[in-house]
Amino acid sequence: MRLLLIGPPGAGKGTQATIISKKYGIPQIATGDMLREEVKNKTELGMKAKAYMDKGELVPDSLVISMLEKRLKEKDASKGFILDGFPRTVAQADALADKFKEMHIDKFLVIELKVDEENIIKRLSARRVCSSCGKIYNLLTEPPKKDNVCDDCNAPLYQRDDDKESTIRERFKVYNSKTAPLIDYYTKKGMLKTVSADGSIEEINKAIIAVIDKAFNG
Ligand code: AP5
Repeated sequence: MRLLLIGPPGAGKGTQATIISKKYGIPQIATGDMLREEVKNKTELGMKAKAYMDKGELVPDSLVISMLEKRLKEKDASKGFILDGFPRTVAQADALADKFKEMHIDKFLVIELKVDEENIIKRLSARRVCSSCGKIYNLLTEPPKKDNVCDDCNAPLYQRDDDKESTIRERFKVYNSKTAPLIDYYTKKGMLKTVSADGSIEEINKAIIAVIDKAFNG
């Protein structure tokens, strides 16, 4: 099963991709997480990517495409995967189409998570992430049991550098100009399903599962 999750910053792509990945036993491939890991490890790619990420801009296509292509060759991705945050430009979508051709993948589903921008500003300002396992929390809706500590591994939580209101608004602008055209791109190919992402995590998950089951089993 190959799934692509598209949606603006804070739509819940990471939250939903984690649940779906566990349910279907397929890896979650999140380019944002991969880039943050490169930044943390101060790799050459990480040093280049950081400046873009801190401003809320996209990392150049050439860097992200080669990182993703390498990841898709790993063994755990051979039977399926969920892409979270890729593609984000038409150039990335074209590169992915070429890659899928090379890998003989002709069936995949693109799920758009649609949300209201003002809800998201509040959501993202309250997001916290585990510094060890990456589990996503929200101080308003999904708080940890103990202040600032991960429920699963006891590591401290942190706030992402790009979760400041001004950077969030820039990320939205970038989404609308560079990524939103993919909605039309995949609609024309008959690959896109849209799910409203304004409800609870469970409600949204139910709607996504229904769309997946219909596409792959029904
Ligand atoms: P990335 O990490 O992909 O960030 P993003 O797309 O802006 O998305 P987010 O991770 O902010 O949000 P999300 O939709 O995953 O929401 P989440 O589940 O965490 O990318 C970061 C940067 O990396 C980019 O700006 C760019 O620079 C670079 N980059 C990455 N991929 C790239 C690419 N392909 N090309 C070029 N550059 C790239 O949820 C958010 C919060 O809301 C959480 O606190 C969560 O608990 C809460 N929440 C989730 N669902 C709900 C709900 N239903 N109700 C209430 N709260 C909820």
